[in-house]
Amino acid sequence: MPSPVPSHPAPFHTTSSEQEDLPHATKRKMADHLRRLETMFTLTPQRMRMIVEAFKDALELGLAKDSQIVPMIPTYVFGWPSGDEAGNYLAVDLGGTNLRVCLVTLQGAGKWEITQSKYRLSEEQKQDDGQQLFDFCAECLKTFVVTNIEGGVIPKGAILPLGFTFSYPCSQNKIDHGVLIRWTKGFGAPNTEGHDVVEMFRKSLERHDVPAEIVALTCDTTGTLIASHYVNPATKIACIFGTGCNAAYMERVGDIPKISALGLDAQDEVAINCEWGAFDSFEHEHLPRTKYDITIDEQSNKPGEQAFEKLISGRYLGEILRLIICELIDEGVLFLGQNTYKIEIPYSFDTAFLSLMESDPTDELLMIIGIFSHFFAVETTLAERQFFRALAKLVGRRAARLSACGIASIVSKMGYLEEGCAVGADGSLYNKYPGFADRIHEGLVDIFGEKGRNIVTYHAEDGSGIGSAIVAAMTKLRKEAGKYPTL
Ligand code: GLC
Repeated sequence: MPSPVPSHPAPFHTTSSEQEDLPHATKRKMADHLRRLETMFTLTPQRMRMIVEAFKDALELGLAKDSQIVPMIPTYVFGWPSGDEAGNYLAVDLGGTNLRVCLVTLQGAGKWEITQSKYRLSEEQKQDDGQQLFDFCAECLKTFVVTNIEGGVIPKGAILPLGFTFSYPCSQNKIDHGVLIRWTKGFGAPNTEGHDVVEMFRKSLERHDVPAEIVALTCDTTGTLIASHYVNPATKIACIFGTGCNAAYMERVGDIPKISALGLDAQDEVAINCEWGAFDSFEHEHLPRTKYDITIDEQSNKPGEQAFEKLISGRYLGEILRLIICELIDEGVLFLGQNTYKIEIPYSFDTAFLSLMESDPTDELLMIIGIFSHFFAVETTLAERQFFRALAKLVGRRAARLSACGIASIVSKMGYLEEGCAVGADGSLYNKYPGFADRIHEGLVDIFGEKGRNIVTYHAEDGSGIGSAIVAAMTKLRKEAGKYPTL
């Protein structure tokens, strides 16, 4: 039999059945890789229950002693709002992506009005000197206040109480104080860790002559807890699934051994900002990290830290998928003969792309074509696009199921399963990632069985605007009533 002599040099790759000019990955190879990755990214119910147990121990430890991995920060927000809180409040939210300044008018009876402005934070600002970052916040607030005084919305000469939402772990010994334990979410501004951020922001407000007085420092989760309970009293837990990931809930003072020396009434309740993104940090004993997660961690500005958050939050999911794709490029499976430098840039694959990939309604997966051709200048076959979508699903589903483990640990610790509870949730991942909430709910059933259906997440109220104003109002009322006036 004559040997099949090709009329042109044999390709060193396998072409796809789609008759494209470029060499593409074979369906078989992709199926093999998908199977391998499925094993890495799938969480069995049994594994989830083990994580929940370890998580509960970490929560307890954080309540018992200072400086634990999961810090369990008492926020000095005592109890739930009454709904009668009223007045004008400023709210400043230094978030992971934006700076938001708001004027909130609480009208009592659970009603409010809000006026706001948003400013995008640049990557440079996140690494700028800390005082400069707070100066920027003060400048933006000044412009906002001046505009609203001119517009007649804020009375001239008024010094407005301000709720400052600063969503990074801070240890607090009273509500208008907070020493930054560590930056998270890629921030790294020097001269801030170990400093009281309220003091720093106050200095900037004075320097820019802003007529505002910081009444309370809160975290987005605490604000969300309070704002959500304001409208839905069945809310017992609040979570943020955005650039970062965290939760807050209300704890009995008597069950927080580490603050026993304060001599507070054991029956009182105080909101706890868990900072659960730190779960399993440094030790890495409980969470199923893949090699991609380890790479992200090692290459981050905070290796070892925020171990739970790095598997879940919007800052990292796109990067996890990008690393998988890059590995397959290196192995010669994907995009042979194409120029892949764009996709090789760290953090170039936005988590929003995963959302789009999972929600693409077209048979041809046209949105996925667009993402890869427009942003990364590479061509894809339908089979490849289906493969990428399956990968996005693995990464997104794992994030949601791990989130369910976090929620379950609070539910189980607090004994909320039988009576059930509502969980107010916010953040881009929760709000925009298709199926994220459903997957959390599925996860809760996998952990608790049918009773898991008693725990229902819903889209929360605006924690860092409304919530922060309500916290400021509650604090003023509490102090005026002479309750814990120094806290
Ligand atoms: C990070 C922060 C935390 C915040 C969360 C969500 O985990 O440390 O304070 O609540 O992101 O924004």
